[in-house]
Amino acid sequence: MSDDPSSEQPSPPLSLEQLAQLLPGTGEIMASVGNAWWKCAYAARSGNWELAAYFARRVRGLQRKLAQIRPKYADDLVAFESEHLSPLLTALGSHNGPSFERIYATATDKANELHVKWAKPYIRWVLPDEPPKDLELEPER
Ligand code: HEM
Repeated sequence: MSDDPSSEQPSPPLSLEQLAQLLPGTGEIMASVGNAWWKCAYAARSGNWELAAYFARRVRGLQRKLAQIRPKYADDLVAFESEHLSPLLTALGSHNGPSFERIYATATDKANELHVKWAKPYIRWVLPDEPPKDLELEPER
């Protein structure tokens, strides 16, 4: 056996099924959703509306990706976007903290209801009581 990579046979192309196996799973995407959702709240509470909107758009983008790769969740994700994420972005755009808090709490309840619906009642997302430490939350003056 040679260690020279140039002497190896080229690998056969991956099948679509093999490529599909490499896509992130729902749990991996949702872990990123939870992280962005946490940071969104603390950015908004610091009055950093741009950062909060950035994280709300991250949640939207991750959920749109999930709807593509796991179509069985698509209807719930589309409804969650129009009923919760869009109004949340509107509240952030108008720097309306009280409205943001109301929509955020209702959206979190809805997410946890959907976890029950999709047979994961033990996944109950809660906002950590600590702000993230890896970001400057205060807006630039
Ligand atoms: C902001 C809203 C949401 C948050 C913060 C959130 C958070 C989470 C978290 C932290 C997990 C566990 C991830 C892990 O395995 O590490 C999870 C799982 C899950 N979430 Fe969400 N979620 C949200 C919205 C939704 C929505 C709208 C749906 C609609 C279908 C959904 C469906 C699921 C499902 C099916 C799982 C189980 C994943 C699996 O089967 O591996 N979630 N979610």
